[in-house]
Amino acid sequence: MAIERTLSILKPDALEKGIIGKILSRFETSGLKPIAVRMQHLSKQEAEGFYAVHKERPFFKDLVSFMTSGPVVVMCLEGEGAVARNRELMGATDPKKADKGTIRADFAKSIDANTVHGSDSADNAKIEVAYFFRSTELVSYDWKK
Ligand code: RTP
Ligand code: MG
Repeated sequence: MAIERTLSILKPDALEKGIIGKILSRFETSGLKPIAVRMQHLSKQEAEGFYAVHKERPFFKDLVSFMTSGPVVVMCLEGEGAVARNRELMGATDPKKADKGTIRADFAKSIDANTVHGSDSADNAKIEVAYFFRSTELVSYDWKK
């Protein structure tokens, strides 16, 4: 499988619960290497722009409101099949439907406060990574684990 990059966001509920480290550890253990990491409190405009594909959906207002309710961690993860691997680790959008052992099943409270975002395709990953990071902010390093 090809080396890919994907965008991950640890949502405000993850920071409130103090589980940044636990989630990052799952990514690292699964071969997803953080190559850019930043904490940020999204403005309404930034959240609306990021989730623009959902702007006609009934949940859009709640989504933007939740994503701006507190700081988030935005990161770019790199690894083999990173887009799908990250989605597997995240679990289904609705934590009630997420498989046991996934991040959302273990930590998320509701479909709004569902702890993590992950790009859903390689094409969207490129757009989403570029939304938050300049190419010079994506670092390169080897793992010698
Ligand atoms: P995300 O984009 O955050 O990684 O989540 P996802 O791909 O699993 O789900 P998506 O369909 O892209 O929806 C984006 C976020 O909107 C909220 N949502 N609420 N009430 C609802 O029916 C509903 N559907 C989606 C969720 O917070 C979801 O993560
Ligand atoms: Mg999505």
